[in-house]
Amino acid sequence: MGRVILTGDRPTGKLHLGHYVGSLRNRVLLQNEGNYDKMFVFIADVQALTDNADNPEKVRQNIIELALDYLACGLDPEKVTIFIQSQIPQLHEMTQFFSNLVTVQRLQRNPTVKTEMAMRGFEGGATDDNKRGLPVGFFTYPISQAADICAFKSTTVPVGEDQEPMIEQCREIVRSFNGTYYCDVLVEPEILLPSNLVCRRLPGTDGKAKMSKSLGNCIYISDDAKTLEQKVKGMFTDPGHLRVEDPGKVEGNTVFTYLDAFCEPGDFAKYLPEYANLDELKDHYRRGGLGDMKCKKFLINVLNDRLEPIRQRRHAYEQDIPKVYEILRKGSADAREVAAQTLHQMKDAMKINYFDDAALIAEQAEKYKK
Ligand code: TRP
Repeated sequence: MGRVILTGDRPTGKLHLGHYVGSLRNRVLLQNEGNYDKMFVFIADVQALTDNADNPEKVRQNIIELALDYLACGLDPEKVTIFIQSQIPQLHEMTQFFSNLVTVQRLQRNPTVKTEMAMRGFEGGATDDNKRGLPVGFFTYPISQAADICAFKSTTVPVGEDQEPMIEQCREIVRSFNGTYYCDVLVEPEILLPSNLVCRRLPGTDGKAKMSKSLGNCIYISDDAKTLEQKVKGMFTDPGHLRVEDPGKVEGNTVFTYLDAFCEPGDFAKYLPEYANLDELKDHYRRGGLGDMKCKKFLINVLNDRLEPIRQRRHAYEQDIPKVYEILRKGSADAREVAAQTLHQMKDAMKINYFDDAALIAEQAEKYKK
């Protein structure tokens, strides 16, 4: 069996630097290494609707934002199939079949579902606004996510560590399907996490644990140089580092966390030649005598260096939006074919391909012969 790489994102907002170091940068590397048979990246609009049912316009607007971010980061539609989840009806048939193999109790143990159920009034702690309860579609989205993965016989799923329980549940579903229907149609996927630990959960510019749109602490991949500069200048550092000569802390200092995630060997020679590498810079900061603004200016240069080619590619694609939709249309058509093959094999294994089943027809004919 070859290697099949698949991953996706919900179209609920533009992608930010947390997405970039946690997954996007990795995808482009994987694409360029070329060590795979097929690679798929998709926009999970059906999943986004599980908790945005009343806001399809938001989902609709963010489809193109996501596609532009993908292409800007360097995903190449010649190498990677980029598609939209809702355009693959086979996924929803598969979800239905998988639903019979998963218990309500197992879903309730899925951490994402569990948290959401608690917030929405089933286990106390609900706010009035959330007392509406949890939509069934949200409750079962781990099953639908398993279908996304299985339809393409994905072996490798590069995602953030928050997705680990989803991948684990998918593996259970694969084992259950193959076991129940005595087949080996489906493939157990493996999660692929970034090897650099700081990249698994990049903090927000305010130093809070996670970059998140609702906290307003994001730097977006599509931010222009000026916006980026403002955001970095306002970033959280070490609150105890008041004067330049004071010793400073590097741990929990967001500027250094971002440098850990983004710095490349050539950056010092190019932008801060007084230091040989990041360790030297950190040592100086710890000793005292190094100001925050100098570190921030360096970080601005580093980030702009990474983001400038991305901005340019985005700008080019923005001038030809119909072409971007065409890439998505073509990718969705290709993905549909692959998913249809897998669905056909699943139905064979489940013995519900009635019209393809000559033995069934013969057997029934025999039964009714006088
Ligand atoms: N749940 C993922 C997220 O919130 C998106 C997603 C949906 C996904 N289906 C997937 C990721 C399948 C990987 C594989 O970001």
